[in-house]
Amino acid sequence: MSSALDIYKKHTKKSSKLFERSKKLHINGVSHNIRFFEPYPFVTKSARGKYLIDVDDNKYTDYWMGHWSLILGHAAPKIADKVKKQVNNCWMHGTVNENTIDFSEVIQKAVPVAEKIRYVSTGTEATMYATRIARAKTGKKIIAKIDGGWHGYTSDLLKSVNYPFDQSESAGLTDERNIVSIPYNDLEKSIAILESVKNDLAGVIIEPVLGGAGCIPATKEYLIGIQEFIHRVNALYILDEIVTGFRFRFGCLYNTMELDPDIVTLGKIVGGGFPIGVICGKDEVIKITDTNANKRLDRSYIGGGTFSANPMTMTSGRTMLKFLKKNSGPVYKKIGRLGEEVRKGLAKTFQDKAVITGMGSLFMPHFLANGVTRVTNAEEASKCDIETLKRYHFELIARDGIFFLPGKLGAMSYVHSESDVKNLLEASKKFAVS
Ligand SMILES: Cc1ncc(COP(=O)(O)O)c(C=O)c1O
Repeated sequence: MSSALDIYKKHTKKSSKLFERSKKLHINGVSHNIRFFEPYPFVTKSARGKYLIDVDDNKYTDYWMGHWSLILGHAAPKIADKVKKQVNNCWMHGTVNENTIDFSEVIQKAVPVAEKIRYVSTGTEATMYATRIARAKTGKKIIAKIDGGWHGYTSDLLKSVNYPFDQSESAGLTDERNIVSIPYNDLEKSIAILESVKNDLAGVIIEPVLGGAGCIPATKEYLIGIQEFIHRVNALYILDEIVTGFRFRFGCLYNTMELDPDIVTLGKIVGGGFPIGVICGKDEVIKITDTNANKRLDRSYIGGGTFSANPMTMTSGRTMLKFLKKNSGPVYKKIGRLGEEVRKGLAKTFQDKAVITGMGSLFMPHFLANGVTRVTNAEEASKCDIETLKRYHFELIARDGIFFLPGKLGAMSYVHSESDVKNLLEASKKFAVS
């Protein structure tokens, strides 16, 4: 039998040539570090519904779905229609527009903590400004994050992302001493670390489902325990719902868990596939960013930027949320059911060789290694056999036309169906016995 590598190379000749050109122009040949995989990533020509089509005309059923932003699939007609109308009107003006106001009203109803909202163009900017607001509001410097937590490339949070979580992630950062890191789902250890910095603690930033670090839901007790501590020491609770916002329900996860965050960051799904980051939160907290009410040194000075609240993103985001609101029953029921079927099917397929994490429409297998028997935090996830996970994903790409970004979690979207689950499980069975 030919190897997956041989099959891939045979079927992706145009991609291979194009990627050689790309390498001469771009760092690692890519525009986001995680998009590279060995031997070279295929080059996408188009994408529609559940499919990605590459320049060699290979068709892949896609579970990466634009960094998990495309909950309705690629080029969803509902969004495309409105976006086309908007582009015929105008696509950039840098002034106030009605779409933004409509969009924010929809967000505010679904995310009650969003008493005030500011749009930016990426999730990275949203988390960067959230940390700045926490520091400005409390007058303290330290931000705590989770071991393995990923909040984008902001210098404020670029620490303890990769195992063993005690090393610097990058040269060129100026003040990593002000970032401390706590273990997910381990309340006792986390509180002990937070206690040691409580006088300087400005805020804690947490994802309710640890995304990039292994698709791991937090326990409610953990999130509530951290919240109690934070509020006791007058720090701010920042929930990063950039992955989880509108992923499991029409709204955020926090309101289902009796949480009381001060700031919530959103991105991905809320932009309808166009670039977005959202900082929202309690008026009492966000008002520190009010440049009319605060003097220079009393205020937290945050963006926007040139493209914030641009008419394209506002149109696609508003259309996306309006569709999700109207169809929240069928959408979340369907993608949640497909996600559960996949998790159950993969657990049956890989038996005691893997643990399957996830929730709702998100799923990820972890191939057990190094004595790990459960995956409840990033350390356990990192000790699993990531090379086997990458090999599994690559086999799916090369042999079965199924795309996951190798090593990353998968996401069901509304355009996936039972037959996709069946195909994915059959392909996984082939890998399991190979
Ligand atoms: C939880 C979380 N926060 C922040 C970000 C950064 O968002 P962006 O890539 O839009 O800058 C990401 C991106 O994957 C994320 O998963």
